[in-house]
Amino acid sequence: MRTIIEPFRIKVVEPIHLGTREERGRRIAEAGYNVFQLKARDVLIDLLTDSGTGAMSANQWAGIMRGDESYAGSESFLRFERAVKEIFGFRHVVPTHQGRAAERILFELVCRPGQTVPNNGHFDTTRANIEYVGGEALDLPCPEAESLSEPHPFKGNIDLDRLRGTIETLGTDRIPLVMLTVTNNTGGGQPVSMANIRATSELCHRHAIPLYLDACRFAENAYLVQQREAGYADVPLIEIAQEMCSYVDGCTMSAKKDGLANIGGFLATNDDDLAARERQLLILTEGFPTYGGLAGRDLEAVAIGLHEALDPQYQRYRIRSSAYLGDRIAEAGVPIVQPPGGHAIYIDAAGFAPQIPALELPGISLTVELYRHAGVRSVEIGSVMFGTRDQAGNPRPAPHELVRLAIPRRVYTQSHIDYVVEALLELFARRDSLGGYRIVEEPGALRHFTARFEPLSEA
Ligand code: F0G
Repeated sequence: MRTIIEPFRIKVVEPIHLGTREERGRRIAEAGYNVFQLKARDVLIDLLTDSGTGAMSANQWAGIMRGDESYAGSESFLRFERAVKEIFGFRHVVPTHQGRAAERILFELVCRPGQTVPNNGHFDTTRANIEYVGGEALDLPCPEAESLSEPHPFKGNIDLDRLRGTIETLGTDRIPLVMLTVTNNTGGGQPVSMANIRATSELCHRHAIPLYLDACRFAENAYLVQQREAGYADVPLIEIAQEMCSYVDGCTMSAKKDGLANIGGFLATNDDDLAARERQLLILTEGFPTYGGLAGRDLEAVAIGLHEALDPQYQRYRIRSSAYLGDRIAEAGVPIVQPPGGHAIYIDAAGFAPQIPALELPGISLTVELYRHAGVRSVEIGSVMFGTRDQAGNPRPAPHELVRLAIPRRVYTQSHIDYVVEALLELFARRDSLGGYRIVEEPGALRHFTARFEPLSEA
């Protein structure tokens, strides 16, 4: 059979509210045209993020009931630790409540002011945690990542020449560690090849610099290696994941992605001394080292979810459903980051509505219209999220104006995705009618969450 189906049946359902265009028009205006300010009940199909929004399996729910809530040494922690060690292979596993907590502990301990952390593409919390301790977060995406529309199998790769140059220029003392984000979320959900991980590892270790994975979407990366990299077609996903980790010294992880859980994360390392210091800091801010800010039941859900994410049938469906959305809209001419990412489709909003200049926020315009038209929530990844200012304080646009449609795991069916396709194609047909926006209120930092906008002219 060629048809790829959802490899599960549905046991529990959650109603979603259809609403009307008029209702949505009022809601989005009340929200200051910022989709983060909408109430979830006013959203029909929520593609804001794939983080913590997945559906758990019957087995995970059974694990929830089994959760051992002992403060110290719980069975649930031991199962969690066993699952992480089996897949990732690191000597020390430090549980945290989510990915950014792992990042905060790691960078507080290893990164000093004036140091630089290179990465194929820092996620915004990783960047913020490095900057918070006075470091510089340096993105070194491969040259193929520059073109949005040109496909390449491993657009998530780090640029090894620039990494080599950075190490030579700064010297090893200025680089506490190098990181590879698999898959590269800010770069369009693109995978990193095993060859790139291996070569980065050789380069870093030649200079005695530790290499870490930001492993949030490790299983999706493993599947894309299996599908796209020569020599891996017959290798089981768990072995690919193990090989990815064998080249690195540790990882940070948000289990809200490929842990298939609603909350959770961890920090892992092979360094005994660092692990001891991580656990001390963990006790101060997250919790005792056998729960780290999580309930025992959460640890169970993650332990089971990590293995489920490596099920080849699940990954085949998962990656296919993202690609299905991307391919259907791209065929009709909607400009997207090519190829479709593992967890999300990134629309080039500047190409979608070229009449809107970058500083008039085409990404905001598209997220607002998609919500108003069809109740679909997406997110702008453009000049609101990543815009900067020049020395005179004038706003400077981000390199790209993207809108991300992130697909929650095991939540929406193909007909939901067909609905999203239809909504986007209807908007694309009347793209000339989309107009620009301006910011009317913004906080000092992380403005995309709370800024308020206003249309430049009434649509
Ligand atoms: N690293 C990457 C690559 C991520 O995508 C995220 C979260 C984190 C770290 C932080 O993990 O949320 O558990 O603290 N990404 C979400 C998103 C929020 O929507 O892409 P967290």
